Amino acid sequence: MAPRKIIIDTDPGQDDAVAILLALGSPEDIEVLGITAVAGNVPLSLTAKNARIICELAGRADMRVFAGCDRPLAHTLVTAEHVHGKTGLDGPQMDDPTMPLQDQHAVDFIIETLRAEPVGTVTLCPLGPLTNIATAFQRAPDIIPRVQEIVLMGGAYFEVGNITPAAEFNIYVDPEAAAIVFKAGVPLVVMPLDVTHKALTTRPRVEAFRALGTRPGHMVAEWTDFFERFDMEKYGSQGAPLHDPCVIAYLIEPGLFTGRYINVEIETVSDLTRGMTVADWWRVTSRAPNAMFMGGIDADAFYRLLVSRIGRL
Ligand code: BDR
Ligand code: CA
Repeated sequence: MAPRKIIIDTDPGQDDAVAILLALGSPEDIEVLGITAVAGNVPLSLTAKNARIICELAGRADMRVFAGCDRPLAHTLVTAEHVHGKTGLDGPQMDDPTMPLQDQHAVDFIIETLRAEPVGTVTLCPLGPLTNIATAFQRAPDIIPRVQEIVLMGGAYFEVGNITPAAEFNIYVDPEAAAIVFKAGVPLVVMPLDVTHKALTTRPRVEAFRALGTRPGHMVAEWTDFFERFDMEKYGSQGAPLHDPCVIAYLIEPGLFTGRYINVEIETVSDLTRGMTVADWWRVTSRAPNAMFMGGIDADAFYRLLVSRIGRL
């Protein structure tokens, strides 16, 4: 089968970085048409820079990276330096990238690509707030039926929130954008905290990256070492969740994940629960299902996949 064409929309972020490396290490399964940066974990200038650092680490200075929206649709930007550090990629020392940032705006690239490629052949993979995707849908509604699928990291239900008691970070930062995407009618696969909090690093898992003996393997080990401290202190867990790579792993091995096709609505109004993904897991409403909402993962197989694919870079 031909590799699946994707656009990665991202706010790197150490876990975004691992997701991008997984995609670039899997050319037989995935063709990355471009990487679009959005403001999220850190401001846009840093996410656009970090995306290029990661491409160069993967030996892919030819990849096209586009900068997109620098703020959410309706609210001021909330960032997560408390998790990812000041640069967004804190941990190992990284050089500034030398590859160029594309001149075209990320939203224009998304629109142009979806119009140029055959209908139903491009999958969008958002790993950060949904501002770029929602802006593209608002500006060019004709592209909505052309999207093959959206596979995104965001939301939480049984696991509740990580940035507020009710909301997960990516959805909380731009709930208005998330509401547009969840209502768009595009086939949607959601990797919420319910999944990603089961995809925890452990000492042996981190050491398996280091043991690859490659620069990407070493960087992933250093990033996860940095990233771990926050979740270990917060949750008392044994390691840190690698959230965003779940999206790319799903494209390669969907059988690693289990979930339910249900209705998921985004809360945009209430101060207390803004950004909550109200997931009708028990199907107690008559609202039409709009998302495959995942809840389970084979974490050992997920880490085996990560190590083997990143090991090729
Ligand atoms: C999500 O928020 C970011 O901090 C991570 O990169 C991930 O996309 C997890 O809530
Ligand atoms: Ca992210």
